[in-house]
Amino acid sequence: MTHRLAVLISGNGTNLQAIIDAIDAGRLSASVAVVLSNKTSAAGLQRAIRAGIATITLNKENYPDRAAFDQAMIAELDRFQPDTIVLAGFMRILSPAFVAHYSGRLINIHPSLLPLHKGLHTHLHAIQAGDAEHGCSVHFVSDELDGGPIIARARVPVLENDSEETLSKRVQAREYELYPRVLEWRATGRLTLEPRGVQLDGQPIPSEGFDLDQLPAELATAPANSRRS
Ligand code: GAR
Repeated sequence: MTHRLAVLISGNGTNLQAIIDAIDAGRLSASVAVVLSNKTSAAGLQRAIRAGIATITLNKENYPDRAAFDQAMIAELDRFQPDTIVLAGFMRILSPAFVAHYSGRLINIHPSLLPLHKGLHTHLHAIQAGDAEHGCSVHFVSDELDGGPIIARARVPVLENDSEETLSKRVQAREYELYPRVLEWRATGRLTLEPRGVQLDGQPIPSEGFDLDQLPAELATAPANSRRS
C-alpha cells in the first residue's frame, strides 16, 4: 500500500509543493493523504487544493489550550491513517502527548545545520555568528523544540554579501531536495526510529545524520523498485 503522508503547514507551503512535485515526478513513492494548517490564510492550502488533496484548518481560538488543540489535530489526522506526519513549516509548539502519539512517525525540517540555531531567524543567526556554512536538517521530532534525532542535512556556504533573504533562498532550494529524499527512505520502509536510534536498512546512521552531498552509494539513487514505471 502507498505510504500515506499527512503534511502540516502554517505558511507558504513551498516544501509541501516540493513533496507534491516529487510524487508527481515519481521520485517519491508516497501520497499526501491530507494537509493540515493552523492558519486559514496559509498559502500552502491553495497548493493542496490545486493538487486535489484534502485540507483541514484548525483555529487555536476554538480550543481552550494546547492540549485540546493537539487532541483535535490527532482526531482529524488519524481519520486519514497517516504513516508519517510531515512538519513543513508548521510553526506551533507540539504538546508531549502529540509527539508521543506519533512517536517514530513525526518528522520535521528545520532551516539550520542542527544542533546549531534552533528556533526562529536561523539565517540571520548564522550570518551574525560568522558561520562559514549553513543549511537545513530533517529530523525525527522529540519533545525538545527543533530537537530529536537528526536524519540528514544539506549544507550551503555562507557568502560574504549574504543577507537573510539571499541565504534563506539558497537554503530553501536545498530543503526541496532534502525533504523528498528523506521521505522516500520512509516511504520505502528503510528509515525507522528505534530505541537504539535512527536506523536505515536496519543499521544505525551517523549521529549528525547523513550529508546530502556525501550520501553512501546505497542512498545516492532511489531503489529501482521505488520508481514509478
Ligand atoms: C521552511 O524553510 C522550514 O525549514 C521552516 O519554515 C519554512 C517553511 O516554508 N521551518 C521552521 O523554521 C521550523 N522550525 P514553506 O512553508 O514555504 O515550506
